[in-house]
Amino acid sequence: MSPKKLRLMSGMRPTAPLQIGNYFGALKNWLAMQDQYECYFSVVDWHAMTDTYKEPSKVNDLVRELVAEWVAWGIDPEKSTVFVQSKVPEILDLFMMFSAITPMGWLERVTTWKDAEEELKAKDAYNLGRFAYPVLQAADIAIHRGNKVPVGQDQIPHLELSREVIRRFNHLYGTDLPEPEQVMTETPYIIGIDGRKMSKSYGNVVPLTAEPGEVEALTKKMMTDPARVRRNDPGNPEKSTVGQFHKLFSSAEDNAWVHQGCTTAGIGCGDCKARLAANINKFMAEPLARKKELLKDPKRLDSIIEEGSAKARREAQKTLDYVRGRMKFHGGMRV
Ligand code: TRP
Repeated sequence: MSPKKLRLMSGMRPTAPLQIGNYFGALKNWLAMQDQYECYFSVVDWHAMTDTYKEPSKVNDLVRELVAEWVAWGIDPEKSTVFVQSKVPEILDLFMMFSAITPMGWLERVTTWKDAEEELKAKDAYNLGRFAYPVLQAADIAIHRGNKVPVGQDQIPHLELSREVIRRFNHLYGTDLPEPEQVMTETPYIIGIDGRKMSKSYGNVVPLTAEPGEVEALTKKMMTDPARVRRNDPGNPEKSTVGQFHKLFSSAEDNAWVHQGCTTAGIGCGDCKARLAANINKFMAEPLARKKELLKDPKRLDSIIEEGSAKARREAQKTLDYVRGRMKFHGGMRV
């Protein structure tokens, strides 16, 4: 018998369509770990609701969009459990159990809360759900006995809190829920088309899948080295957003072509952008086709979501039964 694989758990909030930064910072790592671990990938719609509660129906659409995107890029629902958080109500049972044992002070100290209070107030997101966010995240992980959690730097405080809550829970009730370990994923600094950090609020985002025409239009708008005023002024690709994007999407040969052509004015910025657009389109072509197919076939997409969530739910019920047994607590038992 092969040794049991460790469990990996991660989630993404359905708050906006994915952009290329989500691929290089997260999805790419998930894909690489699918064979090594038993993976649970959750679309955390309750987490999204803590700040998009004014547009709940937008969340519905983004849930489907996100699942289609994951599967299009190679998350395999036969291998990994792909599910929607709100379809696994057991998570909320465990969340309440965790809430009962989490001292307020622990949450007040979480830096993603403490340092964001003013910002959260300004965007009307200073609410109980947002405050309890890390406890819900702990429940996400513990309900599936997650050992490994691949997330970026920004999630360190949440993983620390998750471990503390789980440790306290185990101590109180004699359970053996694993204390999850963060698999630190590199969060590459991705620039937007204007050369600033890529961010929805700057309107400089490159979507993870886009039609060829959209990619061409975006590359046309990209910043180039301002030193290249005229066609025969040489430039430096390091100072050009187009040059930075070539590093992400183009082969070594193409990058050499960019370097040589730009620094000697051998190529124009238009040539450089056209090559970049072609390379980005090549990179996106297959996932784009698969995503369109999935979105055109709502039954297939629904069945991926329903089957994955049913499987996630069966596993969650096992954990919850176990936990209730240890606690000798009958609350919330469903027949
Ligand atoms: N908070 C995470 C983020 O914003 C998303 C998330 C929710 C998550 N629950 C999780 C990630 C459980 C890993 C494990 O990125």
